[in-house]
Amino acid sequence: MELRIDRQALVPVVQQIVDSLVRWLRHGDVAPGTRLPPVRDIARINLLSQACVVEACERLVAKGLLDSRRGSAFFVASKPQPHRQEVLPKGEGADEQRCAQQDPWELGGGGLPESWRETDDLAFAIRQVSHTDMASLFNYSAPLGLPTLRQQIIKRLIRLDIQAQEHEVMTTAGATQALDLIVRTLLKPGDSVVVESPGYSALFDLLRLHGISMIEIPRNLNGPDIAALEAVLLKLRPRALFINSHHQNPTGSSLGRLVAQRLLQLAYAHGVLVIEDDVYADLQTGPGVRLAALDTRRSVVYVGSYSKTLSSSLRVGFIAAPVAVISKLVHVKMISSKGASPFAESVLACLLASGAYGQLVQRQRQRLNADRRLTLQMLEDADWEVFCKPSGGLFVWARSRKQDRTQILAHALRCGIQLSSSTAFSPSDVITDWLRINVAYACDPQARRFFRATSPDRPQTF
Ligand SMILES: Cc1ncc(COP(=O)(O)O)c(C=O)c1O
Repeated sequence: MELRIDRQALVPVVQQIVDSLVRWLRHGDVAPGTRLPPVRDIARINLLSQACVVEACERLVAKGLLDSRRGSAFFVASKPQPHRQEVLPKGEGADEQRCAQQDPWELGGGGLPESWRETDDLAFAIRQVSHTDMASLFNYSAPLGLPTLRQQIIKRLIRLDIQAQEHEVMTTAGATQALDLIVRTLLKPGDSVVVESPGYSALFDLLRLHGISMIEIPRNLNGPDIAALEAVLLKLRPRALFINSHHQNPTGSSLGRLVAQRLLQLAYAHGVLVIEDDVYADLQTGPGVRLAALDTRRSVVYVGSYSKTLSSSLRVGFIAAPVAVISKLVHVKMISSKGASPFAESVLACLLASGAYGQLVQRQRQRLNADRRLTLQMLEDADWEVFCKPSGGLFVWARSRKQDRTQILAHALRCGIQLSSSTAFSPSDVITDWLRINVAYACDPQARRFFRATSPDRPQTF
């Protein structure tokens, strides 16, 4: 059994063995009960230590993908399919199509595949935290959030050129709670706000829920369409503007400096509240400009999160904003949730302080960069049009030049691929041929078969 191990990669070898075995389980047509080659053979053929192979197999036993019987022999478990990410009810994936297979490959998924999750550092941090003051871990939290975590968040903001003092930062249960608090505290039913199209579907649902009307402006390569924004501000006088600045969901595009400067000038001139959602910041390679960093009037409300990199179940995000805004938001946070989880916040603070989080995101960026290059090549070979070639993040926004959505859907069904929704990224539910492609899913053999099938007559380099 030959495994794909890259010794130059930052991803730990054990994790690479896990990934290779998962790929083999999913695509090798292996029957439940199949015995894996002996550990010593796998180790010898791939120039690995037996200890690494055993550790990788044991992780797969823990995930329920392998069984361990009779000493060190490993067998394919009776249910060998890895658990896939949950599919959200509408916006983030499932709409008209459900694949013929029971468990389709979610090409447009909103996060990293489960097999990418590195749990060692997390487990270590959980142990560390549980050795400290156990009692305080299970109390209500401080309203603004754990002070040590907020200090780490301030350091992160400084690295992005965003200045924030201690009382200008509060923690939230992910960016989702941050957006919810902002909408219910700073807006009221009947207000209108500017949103990007295409854009983040759950934000549209949230705004609908609170009776806020949306004015959509196109998302361009370097951010929102400034001419459209200016026209809207003059005519419709919206209360606020939501922007997902970097590696935007779903287009993957990032805010350019000129657009950012002009946007702020317009916001100041028209008294519009700017809410900058930057949840993909840590998946960015290279520099990037933030509205909150250029904001001379210190009025931008900035949202961040650790869901995309560390864990979407720990639920830790944050808001950085002027003190007057933070004190309103924290009041509503306490009324609606009695604060956040000291346990989750302590685990994250521990990972940030030890540097383990920094190394983890560096490895993720490296893997994503490699997968993004391959994805863009596959799309080119298959004659797909891309909205832009992102330099970071998870997404590429693309459509086939040759085939319409119905034809693409038919290929997806045959290949066991679940596509992103045709309407979710539009605030007004307009149907589109464009698809959100998550590069961490696109290099899987199942996804490659799908891309090849959409353009069978072209020479393929992948
Ligand atoms: C643009 C954007 N904002 C916010 C969120 C929500 O993040 P969290 O999981 O931290 O609540 C997401 C998640 O997909 C997102 O894409």
